[in-house]
Amino acid sequence: MPSRDTETWQRAPAVPDTHYVSGLVYSDPEIFEEERSKIFGKVWALACHESELPKKFDFRTIDYAGTPIIVTRGGDGRVRSFVNVCSHRGAKLVNEVSGNTRRFICFYHQWAYDSEGACVGIPQPDAYNETGLRAEDCGLREVRTDSKYGLIFINLSDEAPTLNEFIGDALEPLSPMLTGTELEVFHYQRSEINANWKAWMETNLDTYHGLMHVLLRKTQVNSSREITLFLGGHAATGGSGQKYGDYGNWAAREESLALPGIGANEMKNGDLFPNFTILCRGTVIRIDTVTPISPHRLLVECRGLGVKGESESDRHQRIEHHNQYWGFAGRNWPEDAVAAERCEATFGSGAARHQIIAREENLRGNDDGMLRGFYAEWSRMMGRPANNPFNRS
Ligand code: FES
Ligand SMILES: [Fe+2]
Repeated sequence: MPSRDTETWQRAPAVPDTHYVSGLVYSDPEIFEEERSKIFGKVWALACHESELPKKFDFRTIDYAGTPIIVTRGGDGRVRSFVNVCSHRGAKLVNEVSGNTRRFICFYHQWAYDSEGACVGIPQPDAYNETGLRAEDCGLREVRTDSKYGLIFINLSDEAPTLNEFIGDALEPLSPMLTGTELEVFHYQRSEINANWKAWMETNLDTYHGLMHVLLRKTQVNSSREITLFLGGHAATGGSGQKYGDYGNWAAREESLALPGIGANEMKNGDLFPNFTILCRGTVIRIDTVTPISPHRLLVECRGLGVKGESESDRHQRIEHHNQYWGFAGRNWPEDAVAAERCEATFGSGAARHQIIAREENLRGNDDGMLRGFYAEWSRMMGRPANNPFNRS
C-alpha cells in the first residue's frame, strides 16, 4: 500500500461520516469552551458515592469542569450541592477536599453558611443597613442533586431533565451489583493527565484497545462481549469472561466473593455520557469520572468499591483484585494514561487529522459502537458534527 501525500493525508477517511472523528474536537479552544456550557453545563455528573458522606454534615468538594462544587449531607440527612463560591466577594468558600462541619465559614471576611446553603452570619452587619443588603438574600447557589443506586449526581442546569430521565435504562444491567449489597468506597485517586478529556473516556469506550494491555491479552475472552447502546450516548457491555488463571501465578476468582448479579470471573461495564464509567470485575467495582481542565489536560477521579462490613480477609482479597488492573500501581491504569497522552501528542499539535471508529461486529467483541454512540451524542449536544465540527469542505 502506498503512503500518502499532504492532500490525501488530510482527506477524510473513506468511511461513513459517523465512523470517524476530526482531530479538532481534541484541540480547538472554541470547541473546548463550548463543551463546558453545552455539555458539562447540562448533564448529570457523578459527584461521589453515598458512602463518602456517611454522617450528617459530612462534605466533599469537587472541581467540575471549571465550576467548584461543595456536596454536603445536611442535618436533615439530605444531600445538597452548592457552587463553592462565597456570596460576598467571590472567594472559594471551602478549600478542603472533605470534612465535617455545620457551618461553612469563609476565611476572607468570615461570612457563614449552613448545610442548607443559607447565609447565617455576616460580621458587622449594621454597615449594610443603608444599602439594603440582607443575609437572607445571600445564600449559596444551590446545584441540583439527586442519587440513584447509591451514586450521587449533580447538574448545573436548573432546566435539564431529571436524573432518571437522563440515565434511562443504562445502569439497569449493573443495578444488582450496585444495590444487592451495601457498597463503600475503599480507594480514591485523582490524577491530572496531559490529554483532552475525551481521550480518557475513549480508553473506557474503545474495547479494541484491549490489545494494548498485556493483562487483557492473557486473561480476557473478547469474543463473548456484548455491547448495548442506550439513548443519550450511554452504553453497557456484558458477558465478557475473564480467565485470571491464565496469567502468571494468578488463580480464578472465588465465587464466594462475587458481587450480586455477576459471576466472580465475569465482567460488566456501564458508561454514561459524557464522563462516567463503571467497571465491575466480578468481585470489585471501579468508577471513573473525567472532567476537562484545558483542551490539553484532564482530571480523572477513580474510585474502588467493596462490600461494606465485610471481613478483613475478604476486603484484602478485593483490594488485591482491584490493584491487579487498576489504581496507580495496577497494570492497566498507567497504560491507559500513556495511551491518552500519546494521542494528545499528535492531536494536540494538529499532526493527527482524524481518528477512525469504524469497526463493526454487530455490537459484539470489539465493535466501535460505544465510541460512535458517544460521538453521536456529542454532535447532537454541540450542534456540530464530530467528523467536521466547523463544516469545512
Ligand atoms: S469573600 Fe467570603 S466573606 Fe468575603
Ligand atoms: Fe485500557
